[in-house]
Amino acid sequence: TLTASIAGFDFDNVLLNAAGVYCQTASELDQILEASGAGSLVTKSATPAERDGNAGVRFAEMPLGSINSMGLPNLGLDYYLDYTITHQDEKPLFLSIAGLTKADNLAMLRDVQDSDFNGLVELNLSCPNVPGKPQTAYDFDTTREILNEVFSFYTKPLGVKLPPYFDIAHFDMIAEILNDFPLAFVNTINSIGNGLVVDPETDTVVIAPKGGFGGLGGEIVKPTALANVRALRQRLRPEIKIIGTGGVTNGRDVYDHILCGADLVSVGTSLYFEGPAIFERLNNELIAIMAEKGYNHLDEFRGRLQTL
Ligand code: DHB
Repeated sequence: TLTASIAGFDFDNVLLNAAGVYCQTASELDQILEASGAGSLVTKSATPAERDGNAGVRFAEMPLGSINSMGLPNLGLDYYLDYTITHQDEKPLFLSIAGLTKADNLAMLRDVQDSDFNGLVELNLSCPNVPGKPQTAYDFDTTREILNEVFSFYTKPLGVKLPPYFDIAHFDMIAEILNDFPLAFVNTINSIGNGLVVDPETDTVVIAPKGGFGGLGGEIVKPTALANVRALRQRLRPEIKIIGTGGVTNGRDVYDHILCGADLVSVGTSLYFEGPAIFERLNNELIAIMAEKGYNHLDEFRGRLQTL
């Protein structure tokens, strides 16, 4: 059995989409909701009002992954709140919110708090693609300040979506902050922000916004994702669950995320390319690896990465 649990919500499968992929419209969300092998879904990160996002080509394939600078195109909080409330009796669902300001985040969370929403909120502190807006969770003081204000009134299960960290001191610093709050989970990692890809045919960048700088996803980010899952699992209180995100294209990748400590595993770039049928394939591949190793439950290997 491939079950998991976060904040009293039970998931029949550990897989879900990564925020941003296949989750902007009700029709996309329906396909994830109904996909065999998907245990949940997360909605496109919402802002208070609908946004078109950045102009021009804003997603491109690259060797071993993808680069994007979408710029938070979304249909607005009310749309995703309505969708999740309508479907929350089918599965436990994640509602992603990504205000461009602290005030927007607090206002949206007040709306969610006062609504009939009975699911998990993923507060996105790591969008790299809005011109002029830094990735919030690289600013440790601001992160603590936002969480202080959020938990002064918000009482439903809440987690944060983190950017990748690249230094052991930064793992220590973010974990020390997160451990001071009643978080249900963290989701790590968001895309590796502000990469740049060159098209050798045209000598140009491959996406239009921000002069070509964009978030990297896909196979290429897997070692960074696993490092963040592992480092945070080693540092966070055990009550704070982990959603592992980054570089999942096959069952072994899912297995590795769980081995590093992930409770759920989300799929972005390869879901974009393969579509929702990927969840069944990944589950089957995971089950085959577990069978080979004689495991029946995820608990038998979750977090049990060996060191040399
Ligand atoms: C977008 C990208 C992200 O990585 C994110 O966390 C939120 C939004 C975007 O460009 O739309």
